[in-house]
Formats: sequence, C-alpha cells, structure tokens
Amino acid sequence: MPLKIAVSGKGGVGKTTVAAMLASMYAKDGMNVVAVDADPASSLPAALGVPEGVRKNIVPLSDMLDVIEERTGARPGESYGSMFSLNPKVDDLVDRYGVRGIDGVTVMVLGTIKAPGSGCFCPESAVLKSLMSHLVLDSEHVVILDMEAGLEHLGRSTTRSVDVMLVIVEPSRRSVETALKIAGMARELGVRNVLAVLNKVSDDAQERELRDLLDPHGLEVAAVIPHDASLIAADLAGQPTAAVGGQAIALLRKRMDELRI
Ligand SMILES: Nc1ncnc2c1ncn2[C@@H]1O[C@H](COP(=O)(O)OP(=O)(O)OP(=O)(O)O)[C@@H](O)[C@H]1O
Ligand SMILES: [Mg+2]
Repeated sequence: MPLKIAVSGKGGVGKTTVAAMLASMYAKDGMNVVAVDADPASSLPAALGVPEGVRKNIVPLSDMLDVIEERTGARPGESYGSMFSLNPKVDDLVDRYGVRGIDGVTVMVLGTIKAPGSGCFCPESAVLKSLMSHLVLDSEHVVILDMEAGLEHLGRSTTRSVDVMLVIVEPSRRSVETALKIAGMARELGVRNVLAVLNKVSDDAQERELRDLLDPHGLEVAAVIPHDASLIAADLAGQPTAAVGGQAIALLRKRMDELRI
C-alpha cells in the first residue's frame, strides 16, 4: 500500500526536521521516497542534504510558468479568464523536476499554494492542487509532505488522500493549541489518522504535561523526540538534519506501519 504522510504544526516546532528524518528512514529501508516541500519558506532540501549548488537552482513548481501554461493552457499572471484546465496532467512532474537528497530521497519544491479560502482561481493553483491530490503512488512509494506552519493552508486539496497527519508539538502552550486546531480540522477534512509527535522534550515532566494537555482531546501521542543538541549542531553546520535520526523516529514508523493495516 502506498503511504502519504503530512507533517504539520506551529512554526519552528520541527516539522521539517521530522519530515526529513522520516524520509531518510524510509529511503534507507529501500522505499521510493518523495519528500514534498509544501512550505513557501522552503527548507526541506537543505535538511535532506541537497547540495547548495543544486539548491540555489531549484525553481519551485509554482514559478515554472512555462510548465504551468503547458499543463493548464493558461499562463500565470496573464489574463486567463476561466478557460484553463483545472485537472492538469501532473504525473511526470516529480520525476522531471525533483532533485536528489540523501539516501536517494527525491525532493520536490512546490512554492506558494494559495490558501483554500483565498478564492484563488488561477493556473498555478490548479497545477499545485493537482499535484498534491494526485501524487502518483505505487506500493513502493512513500510521500512525505512538509507543510507550511499553522492551519491556513489546510484544505481538501492539501489533505486529500493523506493517510497520516502528523502534528508536531513542542513544549509550549501555543504549539499545543495550534496542534489541537490542526487535528480538529484534519479530522473534519476526512484524514483518518491524526497523530501527535512531541518534539524537543527535555524531561519526563515536560512529556507528562504535554500528554495531559493532549489526552483530553483524544489526540494520540505516537512518538516523543528528545531535545537533541546534535540536531542543532547539524543545523548550524549546514549538515543534513535527516542524518541525525533516532529511536523515536523508528517508533513512529512502527506505529504508522500498524495503522496501515
Ligand atoms: N528534537 C530537537 N532538538 C533540538 N532542536 C531541534 C529538534 N527538532 C528541531 N530542532 C531545531 O529547531 C529548529 C526548527 O526546526 P524545523 O526547521 O524542523 O522546524 P519547522 O517546524 O519546520 O519550522 P518552520 O515552521 O520554520 O518551517 C531548527 O533549528 C532545528 O534544528
Ligand atoms: Mg519547516
């Protein structure tokens, strides 16, 4: 069975770090991993060790005007009326424009997805929405979406066919509040499995407090990732943070494997 995992949460909680660590773990296991950077403030390629020379030449899909025009029949920014394809062909875009990260992970940078409520009816949105919804999957594929912080971007097109929504929580009340809102919205949008991942946890007391805040809302904690100085060191040194995976990620994966049955 294919697996599509979305990673969300408040700003700075560790979404990109967790997405990269998971991508690396699945890839090491021989899975074909597509890591999708759905955050306009793109940082997933760096976390996955895409070399700087490659990174600075990455064009987000939303800025590929020729591609968007070729697929939808309309060019972003020009007057296009309503005569363009809302279901453009996207199945080859990942193979064509994805770049390679560590462990052979394919990284695709989406660029800006207009918020579902913004009423944007434009060719670039049509391509991004199609790609998010129809990322081509076979049984060897794992797709991991590193989402934009917060919940404004959450909508049907970004959550359709998501098997697991991971909501990252750090030891802060604001991140808990955001997580609970995201979890509620994801469930409303039909995501069957919503799991919390506690990150940057310093001690048992912090873990307990976070669990006490989440438990009453029925949000399952699937993994607890300790505060890890080596992640910060890797980040500062410009090294891929995906290489610093840990036991918690293995546990998280085990839980998701169970959910796939
Ligand atoms: N378990 C951890 N221990 C220590 N530092 C961590 C841990 N997880 C993440 N960090 C650090 O926290 C910072 C934010 O992490 P990251 O970029 O993954 O968060 P994010 O949620 O993707 O942020 P943004 O909302 O800006 O996209 C980084 O400097 C990262 O190295
Ligand atoms: Mg991020």
